[in-house]
Amino acid sequence: MGSLKNEEEMGQIVEESREAILYVNGVRKVLPDGLAHLTLLEYLRDVGLTGTKLGCGEGGCGACTVMISHYDRKLKKCVHYAVNACLAPLYSVEGMHVITVEGVGNHKRGLHPIQKSLERYHGSQCGFCTPGFIMSMYALLRSSQTPPTEEQIEESLAGNLCRCTGYRPIVDAFRVFAKTDDALYADKSSLSLQGGEFVCPSTGKPCSCGSKTVNDIDTNGQSICSAAYKPVSYSEVDGSTYTDKELIFPPELLLRKLTPLSLSGLGGLKWYRPLTVKYVLELKEKYPNAKLLVGNTEVGIEMRLKRIQYQVFISVTHVPELNMLNVKEDGIEIGAAVRLTELLNLLREVVTQRPAHETSACKAFIEQLKWFAGTQIKNVASVGGNVCTASPISDLNPLWMAARAKFQIINCKGNIRTTPAEKFFLGYRKVDLAGDEILLSIFLPWTRRFEYVKEFKQAHRRDDDIAIVNAGMRVCLEEKGEEWVVSDASIAYGGVAPLSLCAIKTKEFLIGKKWNQDVLQGALNVLRTDILIKEDAPGGMVEFRKSLTLSFFFKFFLWVLHQIEGKKPIKEKVLLSHLSAIKSFHRPPLVASQDYEIKKHGTSVGSPEVHLSSRLQVTGEAEYTDDTPMPPNGLHAAFVLSKKPHARILAIDDSGAKSSPGFAGIFFAKDVPGSNKIGPVVMDEELFAAEFVTCVGQVIGVVVADTHENAKRAAGNVHVEYEELPAILSIEDAVSAKSFHPNTEKFLRKGDVDLCFQSDQCDKIIDGKVQVGGQEHFYLEPHSSLVWTMDGGNEVHMISSTQAPQKHQKYVSHVLGLPMSKVVCKTKRIGGGFGGKETRSAFLAAAAAIPSYLMNRPVKITLDRDIDMMTSGQRHSFLGKYKVGFTNNGKVLALDLQIYNNAGNSLDLSLAILERAMFHSDNVYEIPNVRIFGSVCFTNFPSHTAFRGFGGPQGMLIAENWIQRIALELKKSPEEIREMNFQGEESILHYGQQLEHCTLAQLWNELKLSCDFLKARDEVNEFNVHNRWKKRGVAMIPTKFGISFTTKFMNQAGALVNVYTDGTVLVTHGGVEMGQGLHTKVAQVAASAFNISLSSVFISETSTDKVPNASPTAASASSDMYAAAVLDACEQIKARMEPIASQRNFSSFAELATACYLERIDLSAHGFYITPDIGFDWSIGKGKPFRYYTYGAAFTEVEIDTLTGDFHTRTANVFMDLGYSLNPAIDVGQVEGAFIQGLGWVALEELKWGDAAHKWIPPGCLYTCGPGSYKIPSLNDIPFKFNVSLLKGHPNVKAIHSSKAVGEPPFFLASAVFFAIKDAIIAARAETGHTGWFPLDNPATPERIRMACLDEFTAPFISFDFHPKLSV
Ligand SMILES: Cc1cc2nc3c(=O)[nH]c(=O)nc-3n(C[C@H](O)[C@H](O)[C@H](O)COP(=O)(O)OP(=O)(O)OC[C@H]3O[C@@H](n4cnc5c(N)ncnc54)[C@H](O)[C@@H]3O)c2cc1C
Ligand code: FES
Ligand code: FES
Repeated sequence: MGSLKNEEEMGQIVEESREAILYVNGVRKVLPDGLAHLTLLEYLRDVGLTGTKLGCGEGGCGACTVMISHYDRKLKKCVHYAVNACLAPLYSVEGMHVITVEGVGNHKRGLHPIQKSLERYHGSQCGFCTPGFIMSMYALLRSSQTPPTEEQIEESLAGNLCRCTGYRPIVDAFRVFAKTDDALYADKSSLSLQGGEFVCPSTGKPCSCGSKTVNDIDTNGQSICSAAYKPVSYSEVDGSTYTDKELIFPPELLLRKLTPLSLSGLGGLKWYRPLTVKYVLELKEKYPNAKLLVGNTEVGIEMRLKRIQYQVFISVTHVPELNMLNVKEDGIEIGAAVRLTELLNLLREVVTQRPAHETSACKAFIEQLKWFAGTQIKNVASVGGNVCTASPISDLNPLWMAARAKFQIINCKGNIRTTPAEKFFLGYRKVDLAGDEILLSIFLPWTRRFEYVKEFKQAHRRDDDIAIVNAGMRVCLEEKGEEWVVSDASIAYGGVAPLSLCAIKTKEFLIGKKWNQDVLQGALNVLRTDILIKEDAPGGMVEFRKSLTLSFFFKFFLWVLHQIEGKKPIKEKVLLSHLSAIKSFHRPPLVASQDYEIKKHGTSVGSPEVHLSSRLQVTGEAEYTDDTPMPPNGLHAAFVLSKKPHARILAIDDSGAKSSPGFAGIFFAKDVPGSNKIGPVVMDEELFAAEFVTCVGQVIGVVVADTHENAKRAAGNVHVEYEELPAILSIEDAVSAKSFHPNTEKFLRKGDVDLCFQSDQCDKIIDGKVQVGGQEHFYLEPHSSLVWTMDGGNEVHMISSTQAPQKHQKYVSHVLGLPMSKVVCKTKRIGGGFGGKETRSAFLAAAAAIPSYLMNRPVKITLDRDIDMMTSGQRHSFLGKYKVGFTNNGKVLALDLQIYNNAGNSLDLSLAILERAMFHSDNVYEIPNVRIFGSVCFTNFPSHTAFRGFGGPQGMLIAENWIQRIALELKKSPEEIREMNFQGEESILHYGQQLEHCTLAQLWNELKLSCDFLKARDEVNEFNVHNRWKKRGVAMIPTKFGISFTTKFMNQAGALVNVYTDGTVLVTHGGVEMGQGLHTKVAQVAASAFNISLSSVFISETSTDKVPNASPTAASASSDMYAAAVLDACEQIKARMEPIASQRNFSSFAELATACYLERIDLSAHGFYITPDIGFDWSIGKGKPFRYYTYGAAFTEVEIDTLTGDFHTRTANVFMDLGYSLNPAIDVGQVEGAFIQGLGWVALEELKWGDAAHKWIPPGCLYTCGPGSYKIPSLNDIPFKFNVSLLKGHPNVKAIHSSKAVGEPPFFLASAVFFAIKDAIIAARAETGHTGWFPLDNPATPERIRMACLDEFTAPFISFDFHPKLSV
């Protein structure tokens, strides 16, 4: 035990300050006392800087990214880094400069080159993620000493999620700033400026940054950039518009002395910022329960998600003693408050400077930190915060334990003690720290000669995900003759127990043993008893976790063996094919291509124009519902939600809510002035549950209060007493209980299935079951609505984030008992919908309308991400039971299919979704005899709903499952079976529709050629022969997607076109812009119709008082329908203009419009379109539900790590027939976005519900309700090579300007990834003699992949037919 030497070392107490200042985009802000409860994001949005978005509030999406700059006194320069504003406490950025997207550029002042590039490369669709991406890239450029590499750029975006684009265009937009692209993009001649100045990386203008440190700052504030930055690409990317608006670091902040802070927040919250350890300890003595804060990335989550309230915070970010980073003779001393990025940078430096044998542990930390959270988190999260949280899945703690790290602990008296990391963790989030102690620093010793440390981690998603199991392993070897003997070892795991755990028995076993096969087998045996995971362990996946513990050790064994090879002759060597176990994943920079032809029609149609809103989206100026300023007197709403899946409500005690701060009102079923019954198709839902609740998350009531937080708190204080009733929590449960929604049994038939099975035509008949999991929409913008009344409630208006404003209008009028003519809903744009805002957004607006109407006050409701995910439904899970007859050749003769979807507790759109699944159950295959029964299951989950593909992908996935099985039965390739069963021109489908202009064969052949399929298959086989623990797989998948709403009346569209006398055109139509570029395409059609430029056409918003009775924007058909309706209106106006136009030549359209106006010609028209020639009669199961089909095909190659289940897609080639595209750039964006969203569905995104399969989750609850636990694809998950081609020369005669619909059709093609994974698993299983059929549920997550790759490490825990659990 030691102590700090004297008082001086403990630092002096400087007088505390209550004055907090902050610069935001160059503007000085004084932060008053009392705001300690606020996050930076809340503050920014409150002061009107709404470009910074709230996507999740838990650091998982990056939508809230801003750049922080502060003056680092140690480095004597300004440092710039990206942070998540949603987790940064407001006062934590005191004395710093915050730059938000508004400070980077705007559409009036000029766009920043980064913004411009993103716009130009079509990198913004719905735009909700866009400011976050801009800010991550901006911070990277401003903080880089030299231009970043492409890899660094991709890495820096790991903490930013996009659900629309599939990331490719974002990467393309940003890679122009990369070092490697100098030659391509830099115009070197323009970079040589007079006086030796450089072009500033941030401004693209001459600047002296780099030649000066911050000390040289000129007082006019001309230059503040601190680092040299070689000019790269700006001259090419930059337009001439961006000139002199780069924000400098505020000189005041340079000169200002940092002072300790003592501030407060709501509810008596105290916030301290001490500047010395002494003061920290004094505060700790005074407040033993105080929370030390650095990055707030743990505490922030605890407060937001676990609703834990703390009273005292001590922010230790600026305490020098806690920020030391000393490289010493025997190792590195790391202050507890050191941020992970700083540590990473130091470690990277150290490994280049120290002898290699000393830095084995450093390298392991570097690798582990690579997969630790996103950049924004690493920029603020501290080493000590990670250690002291003692999370059982901490990525670093097992490594500290393994690497012989020592923790220095200081108590309030200044005494210091040291404890080994191995002894520090005592239990679940419990550490060896007394109430009067804090962690001072960590000491990481150098490794010794022949001492090896290695990290391991397996998560659902490689990037920015918490571990399922991780580990740190170390072994120290001694030479004994020809053998290596273990002199010391440490094997530590995370994710296997409530705390990071050392495998003590294994360690003891290893010491003194020779490092050879025998020790491997022995250690594996000991490990199995050393690391025990209970069957009901939280987190589930017990068998997977157990096998990972062995797999990791096996990898470690081989890795060490490989390290010592070559050191001296040894008996044992790693077999070449086993090297595959230790080859680490490396992602090369993305290679992508987009191939299409431009078929122009008039001025604009066919041209690859950028999204019309993208200019506003890249600057953060584009407004979304929650960005709408709250009107005076406005209130915020939050729901009282059911906590039980099925129960009778016995009593509701709302007294707690009524006494909550800021409370304004609470409303239940009895308060609804109109009808409490709602529903989009049948009214089988209640706005507020009156007597029974039928799912967790069902709305029981709504609370309004002065702030969002107060509304939530008040709602949380309502106590509901329940009598629990039996709940149905899976399709299987529903089927056995015959729990179906009424009148939803459907039947389709072609030929005679029974006769075919009974005849001897079928050489083989197989039957099986396919389970398809659900999927969360994860639109980046959560549900939101703002409702207000006019004329004392005589009219109600709202702005909503919805795909169906007309439904909002209808619901609100219905629950308020008002005529629809008095209710208006407007939607400007939405931050993604994907079907999730087609019907499930309407109850939100209706619920907010109740208090708004009854209190005559504006009410805003914006759901937190977890509430959004818990309450608003997902893509349906499906169960398919099939029986298929086929010939020995592979020709399919008969299909008998029963298909069920999990609808949840109300019908919503589930019947139409089931019907579409039944229509698509043939995918593209000619089957002479078909019989399909479908049923919609009632379960006690929130109502599931539309999601891109609307049941089609599930139907097709079931089909491809039995196709693949036939192939395996016949020992043929699935592609051969697919090809021989293809439908073609004039094929008559099982519901009677005949195929016309079928381009399937062309697409397939072009795809096959592009990927050289047979060669690809041979190469994969070759790879698999030589790699025991990595396997590759390939697949080609076709698709055919029917275009039209299958409910006939919905295939109608209206539009309003106004021509003004200046020649500009305002278009309004019934469709909603949700990133898919609908408004852009529609405007292109109007521009071409009037023969004017695209810039003369404007689409402001969608509004129910402009275009009535619109169908939801869905079914991929909106461009077809609304463009046609707009064209109709344009043609009407043109016809009226014609007599004037033919009189003389007009120099411009404006002149013509004025002339028409003077002649009193109506320049406004309502256009209308109905999709012709469709209709389906379910009573006979025959008809023509679709106007036409969009076809596509995809090839993929994947690689899996059979020991861990990790996978990546090496190549994806996607071919689509989109006719003559209205806008090929937007269409390619849809293809890429749909493919990556589909990739999430088939391989990453798993919904885990509290059901029989997941007993550790409370019944009916959604466990995966945020980006922390639910993983959509990140940039790291997209294929290494991603090529998209649009079929050329095939106009579509059935839709406007020969185009085709695109939104949903490509989604299913991502199943090529699923089947390539399965192909790879087949190769892995063959290694252990398992060559028969095996089921693989969707999604093929690492757990499913790994557990299907049967080997000696899974054998102790599972039988060959093991099936990982899935909520279906
Ligand atoms: C999106 C996201 C992704 C994440 N990914 C990962 C991941 O991949 N791997 C992983 O392991 N973790 C991950 N985390 C968890 C978290 O980021 C880390 O644990 C981080 O290191 C915590 O540091 P902090 O400074 O933010 O902690 P804070 O939240 O500031 O503090 C955490 C706790 O540590 C205590 N504490 C801090 N310093 C001291 C000290 N000196 N002495 C005593 N107590 C102290 C605090 O009182 C508090 O209880 C993730 C978190 C988020 C939000
Ligand atoms: S809102 Fe901050 S990361 Fe998602
Ligand atoms: S554009 Fe990225 S989420 Fe919509």
